Amino acid sequence: MSKEVNEAVSSFLEDVLEGLKAQHKYLPSKYFYDEVGDGLFRQIMHMEEYYLTRKELEIFEREKQQILEVLGRDQPFRIIELGAGDGLKTKVLLRYFQEQKTDFTYTPVDISGNVLEILGDNLKSEIPNLKFDPYEGDYFDALSQISDSHEREVIFFLGSNVGNFPKEEAVSFLFGLRQFLKPNDLLFMGIDLKKDPSKILAAYNDKEGITTNFNLNLLDRINKELNGDFNRELFLHYPYYNPHTGECKSYLISKEDQSIRVGDEIIPISAWEAIFMEISKKYNETQILELAEDTGFKPVASFYDNEKWYADIVWEVKS
Ligand SMILES: C[S@@+](CC[C@H](N)C(=O)[O-])C[C@H]1O[C@@H](n2cnc3c(N)ncnc32)[C@H](O)[C@@H]1O
Repeated sequence: MSKEVNEAVSSFLEDVLEGLKAQHKYLPSKYFYDEVGDGLFRQIMHMEEYYLTRKELEIFEREKQQILEVLGRDQPFRIIELGAGDGLKTKVLLRYFQEQKTDFTYTPVDISGNVLEILGDNLKSEIPNLKFDPYEGDYFDALSQISDSHEREVIFFLGSNVGNFPKEEAVSFLFGLRQFLKPNDLLFMGIDLKKDPSKILAAYNDKEGITTNFNLNLLDRINKELNGDFNRELFLHYPYYNPHTGECKSYLISKEDQSIRVGDEIIPISAWEAIFMEISKKYNETQILELAEDTGFKPVASFYDNEKWYADIVWEVKS
């Protein structure tokens, strides 16, 4: 095993054990994305209930010209996309920017090497002359490794990935991101908005059970990679939306008393005890403005879908 793979396995093990030994058990959602998890998330993006992808795609298709105006077509820039996934929606913009003879490079960052390979293959065939320089790793590792550029940096953070942090962590994440940027650099971010709670809950509780499978796959991944012995049949998937906080949280709930082996450790889990799996936080417009204010950014533009269910905002780094 290479040194990098060894280190990745040991931080996976540490994070999983820390989460399972906590008073309120949790598993970090960044580990959802192995090869099976990537495939399940790609299915989620096409589900009827998962409106987020459709809404962001609608915005990009309708507003691509305006978006390019705001990013600044007259100066070269570098797009660094954090958590790029398979780039389904980003490709709409990249293709348009290329057709407009814009001078830009594209650096997708993702913790999943598998999804970056899929993205790279698609880009080679679909947008052949794109200047493309991928980075496999965690968000901040990537930002500290990617060399400074004199060009304008434009950080893409799409798919409402920011919603995968609770509010305080979103603030520290964006504040940390701000430290890597120069005055005038931009953040282009997708944010899911508060709306009819039943629409939100349905997006994380589809009838076909793809989201259930996506959550349970992390137990399978722990079994495969960390010598675990989870039995997925002994867990229920339970998503819950709180309209006060705007937080949709997913849990796996143990149906009975059980003991789980992970690595060399045995973890007891009681009947009906919950493992917190993922948060998807929703914002309103005032909260989005506060988030910019609290993290050192100045709002420059906002784009919405027709129903105002979803926003893509552009913020500039305040000097
Ligand atoms: C919900 S998917 C969204 C993908 C894409 N942004 C979109 O809108 O379709 C999240 C992506 O972020 C990646 N990811 C999650 N946590 C990450 C982290 N801490 N560092 C780097 N990538 C991460 C996952 O591998 C996955 O591809």
